[in-house]
Amino acid sequence: MGEIFSETYANNKDNLNPLKSIRKKFHYPERDGTPLLYFSGNSLGLQPIGVSDSINEQAKIWALKGADGYMSDWVDFHQQFLTDFEPIIGGQWQEFMLMNALTVNLHLLMVSFYKPKDTRYKIIIEGGAFPSDQYAVKSQIEFHGYDPNEALVELQPKKGEYCLNTEDILSTIESHGESISLILLGGVNYYTGQKYDMEAITKIGKKGGAYIGFDLAHAAGNVSLKLHDWDVDFAAWCNYKYLNSGPGAPSGVFVHEKHHRWKGARFTGWWGNRLDTRFKMESNIDPIQSTAGWGISNSSIFSMAPLKNALDIYKEVGMDRFVEESHKLTGYLESLIMSELPQISIVTPNDPNQRGCQLSLLTKNGKSVYESLVNKNVVCDWREPDVLRIAPTPLYNTYKEILQFTQILKTILN
Ligand SMILES: Cc1ncc(COP(=O)(O)O)c(C=O)c1O
Repeated sequence: MGEIFSETYANNKDNLNPLKSIRKKFHYPERDGTPLLYFSGNSLGLQPIGVSDSINEQAKIWALKGADGYMSDWVDFHQQFLTDFEPIIGGQWQEFMLMNALTVNLHLLMVSFYKPKDTRYKIIIEGGAFPSDQYAVKSQIEFHGYDPNEALVELQPKKGEYCLNTEDILSTIESHGESISLILLGGVNYYTGQKYDMEAITKIGKKGGAYIGFDLAHAAGNVSLKLHDWDVDFAAWCNYKYLNSGPGAPSGVFVHEKHHRWKGARFTGWWGNRLDTRFKMESNIDPIQSTAGWGISNSSIFSMAPLKNALDIYKEVGMDRFVEESHKLTGYLESLIMSELPQISIVTPNDPNQRGCQLSLLTKNGKSVYESLVNKNVVCDWREPDVLRIAPTPLYNTYKEILQFTQILKTILN
């Protein structure tokens, strides 16, 4: 048994952890009074302390002001959060918007950025993209009168492998050349936990003249992103996973500044109209010349309120420190599995720069192993057909919890 598989080692790491005070900023779920080992931050992040006060604050404004609250507090409510996304997504606040849910936003962005015409009509996605993304792109292709069997190109791993090889991604994109209208990939794949080389993909896609978008559901607040500098056209993400803003939190949207004087197709609504002319109630839109121009409806104030608490934590920690500590924490889980659990294989790349917090694990009888973990008060998830996803996050998971998880898993497997 190696030194790392000991409480002394894990406790020592926790004591030296520069983010240890951040842990106090969250609520921790329990089952029948027993604390749970929570490794599902890739699914739903934990609730930051203070969220109920933030929601109550808005309820009070509603109670005291009624409709006057619109002009005094809510008309530009989303705007207060946008600068906080600058270091998380990599862009300027004018390139961000908060609205709707993720799949809805992918559709709205495809209205603008999927414009099939003549011989340029294909969409490239990763094979095994999140189902909602697959449904969305197929329905967009059909909406434009094309056949997904011809217009949808799915990047596939080499036989017997789970992750995509970057060279293969780039050469497939190159080989489809000018027939590609849109490349829409996950920044981090939900199933394998693989982070794609978004910069290289964007560069090669641009050479062929395609638009490039990313679904950042598993990347936002998890890995380092520089969307503006990479010249990505658009992206959308949900704020309820790593970003801890609660179930159904409004989704984030990025549209590169160079598209802000947009003249192309777009589904519009009054929230995309400039604030200074919105209430003139004109019949033609006077669009905001920023990503907010893609806004349609007024904001869901109660679901947006938790963003304040959640983003304050990211502001305090900073993305660089998050990523640095995440590499160590997930690296610890990886080392323990490799040294103590030879029955497990890890699907996620072992290079920390090609992954975020999550490790996807494969084992015999995986589903029943997952059920046993649940019975032992571990919160993680099972994704069909065969992976167990564990996502230690540096904001609230500890080395000790990772050690406990590995001990439990070892007992189950033996
Ligand atoms: C990669 C990915 N895309 C899309 C979605 C769908 O999100 P929403 O229900 O917010 O549209 C999810 C949800 O987990 C996801 O993980």
